[in-house]
Amino acid sequence: MTIFVTGGAGFIGANFIYYLLKNRPADSVICFDKLTYAGNLETLAAAEPLPTFKFVRGDISDREEVYKAFEEFRPNVVVNFAAESHVDRSIEDPGLFLKTNIIGTGILMDAARKFKVDRYHQVSTDEVYGDLPLDRPDLFFTEKTPIHTSSPYSASKASADLLVQAYIRTYQFPATISRCSNNYGPYHFPEKLIPLMIINALNDKKLPVYGAGANVRDWLYVEDHCSAIDLILRKGTVGEIYNIGGHNERTNLEVVKTILKILGKSEDLIEFVTDRKGHDLRYAIDPTKIETELGWTPKTKFDDGIKKTVAWYLDNKSWWEKIVSGEYQNYYEKMYGNR
Ligand code: NAD
Ligand code: TYD
Repeated sequence: MTIFVTGGAGFIGANFIYYLLKNRPADSVICFDKLTYAGNLETLAAAEPLPTFKFVRGDISDREEVYKAFEEFRPNVVVNFAAESHVDRSIEDPGLFLKTNIIGTGILMDAARKFKVDRYHQVSTDEVYGDLPLDRPDLFFTEKTPIHTSSPYSASKASADLLVQAYIRTYQFPATISRCSNNYGPYHFPEKLIPLMIINALNDKKLPVYGAGANVRDWLYVEDHCSAIDLILRKGTVGEIYNIGGHNERTNLEVVKTILKILGKSEDLIEFVTDRKGHDLRYAIDPTKIETELGWTPKTKFDDGIKKTVAWYLDNKSWWEKIVSGEYQNYYEKMYGNR
């Protein structure tokens, strides 16, 4: 099988590529990535020499580039990770989110139809469901929960998700969709909560917690997300949507305190800052469908995964030091300078 992975130079896509190269050695993997600020070829350095791996630089919202790559590689399977993925950036500047996340998904599906791929998988997100109240721990997102978005990011991902559903119904397009909760693990770009807090704590910088830190996220170790997508590709039913999550809900403050404890740093580093606009209160996935229908189970509990993740950032300083010493500094100043 030739698997066309878009956004594979980013956090989850790269972990998925390594998952495939390790667990599916008979398959070939094409990584198609624009290399935006979030894409990093160094992340794929260990994959580059392998004969079953090929990197192509390209933009999913550029029809010519996408068709050219499909023409050349004739993939059987497409997995679309490529996206603008950061909520805070979407609040500052929504336009690019619409172009990549919506138009890009449409173009990719057109290519998949034209070149008759056997399977297209859309990596959607639990953020399409909006949020749950903090005082109703009995409520969870199921695949039947209505879409109800909060941020330009989640609205763009929901639009893409709906477009995939429209292609399934209108063209009998052979697609599946997954909606996963927040991931964490190796190669997570430093703008996101967990890597940002690890790196700031290591540098004895303040840890900017939005609002009171009471918002809840449902954390999944990235390898468990990869195994779920792999399972959906092989055993999932075309036309179906699968929620992915492992019941690891934590408040942001709990996450930050856990990181400080692992690193042996003081909680005095925590600084409460102005809240995110429209900040979703709680995400919580009910993964019953993928567990019962496909037999998926997550392997890594949060307490183990967060230790492994902190250890990875300690062992891979050169990976993130290059990022945070560059353009990222301007981003950080803009987002946090006067917060
Ligand atoms: P990321 O920001 O780390 O990586 C995104 C990758 O996509 C980068 O390599 C970037 O260069 C590439 N890209 C961006 N625009 C592109 C374009 N126009 N054409 C080609 N490549 C482009 O994101 P991530 O955290 O790895 O998320 C991957 C996917 O998973 C996204 O679709 C996201 O919505 C979804 N998702 C993420 C999470 C999470 O917790 N991070 C949870 C659920 C779903
Ligand atoms: P993030 O990693 O951006 O993921 P998402 O918004 O997609 O869930 O943020 C996770 C949570 O952490 C979210 O509730 C916002 C909060 N947060 C902070 O408190 N401080 C920060 O500096 C960042 C980046 C996020």
